[in-house]
Amino acid sequence: MFISKKGRAALFLREGETEGDGEGVLKEKEIETPIFALLKITTMAVVPYKEKESGKKEQVAEMFNNISGKYDFLNHFLSLGIDIIWRKKAIGMLKKDQPKLILDIATGTGDFAIEALALDPDKVIGVDISEGMLDVGRKKMKKKGLDDRIELQMGDSERLLFDDNKFDAVIVAFGVRNFEHLEQGLTDMCRVLKPGGKAVILEFSQPKSFPFRQLYGFYFKAILPKLGKLISKDNAAYTYLPESVEAFPDGNRFLKILEKAGFTNTRCRPLTFGISSIYTGQKP
Ligand SMILES: C[S@@+](CC[C@H](N)C(=O)[O-])C[C@H]1O[C@@H](n2cnc3c(N)ncnc32)[C@H](O)[C@@H]1O
Repeated sequence: MFISKKGRAALFLREGETEGDGEGVLKEKEIETPIFALLKITTMAVVPYKEKESGKKEQVAEMFNNISGKYDFLNHFLSLGIDIIWRKKAIGMLKKDQPKLILDIATGTGDFAIEALALDPDKVIGVDISEGMLDVGRKKMKKKGLDDRIELQMGDSERLLFDDNKFDAVIVAFGVRNFEHLEQGLTDMCRVLKPGGKAVILEFSQPKSFPFRQLYGFYFKAILPKLGKLISKDNAAYTYLPESVEAFPDGNRFLKILEKAGFTNTRCRPLTFGISSIYTGQKP
């Protein structure tokens, strides 16, 4: 598939911008190879509410606000509880590092932040763009008596309001797939990490081998959207989930984007036949 330079630029223009003005063209100029152009297009293209004009970020925040009350239940129910094991394994990747200050990006209702307490940090700060998810999370922390160790704040992964080199570790579970500008979010994660600090990213991926690919495809595309819609009452959320996973550049493609965002020592560890993967990277 060939996309002309002009065509690519047009894809990155925001509504009302013309070629030659604004951020859109600047971002396009950063693209070095057609493969990165394609990756950016796929991650930006999938939105929950296709009939709406608003951008991906607004739609993602709206969707998580809508499902926030049912999110925890649906997460564990639809994954048969495996998501809990995945979060534990991902946090285990930081055992040797013993980070004291941890940033949990796209924290949602805070389950990954809670899991990070197993590392005995001084503090975990969680940020998210959905006030609904944060609200459920804050109530949960209070109920569990964790509100002095975990602080949940409104915050956008692409414009983190923290100084450079602040955190010992940055973690994200099932968040990066929802970013509007993937590379920008990862670059800002690298910026706030201390040199030598580690990022741990847990995200859905697509199993590659028979019969897991076929079984997963059937469950994810035929069963999960129906159950999700029935319970969450949001028509789009659980159709967006398989679509966004399909569009996400998983495996080695994601490692390349991590490296482009500034990370070194990047690794990918597939979990449960490749249904999800843990990615790690270090700030040089
Ligand atoms: C699937 S939930 C994951 C929540 C939590 N990390 C977990 O493990 O259950 C994805 C979260 O990403 C958040 N999110 C999406 N884009 C974001 C962004 N640009 N900045 C911060 N949070 C974002 C959403 O609001 C949502 O709460």
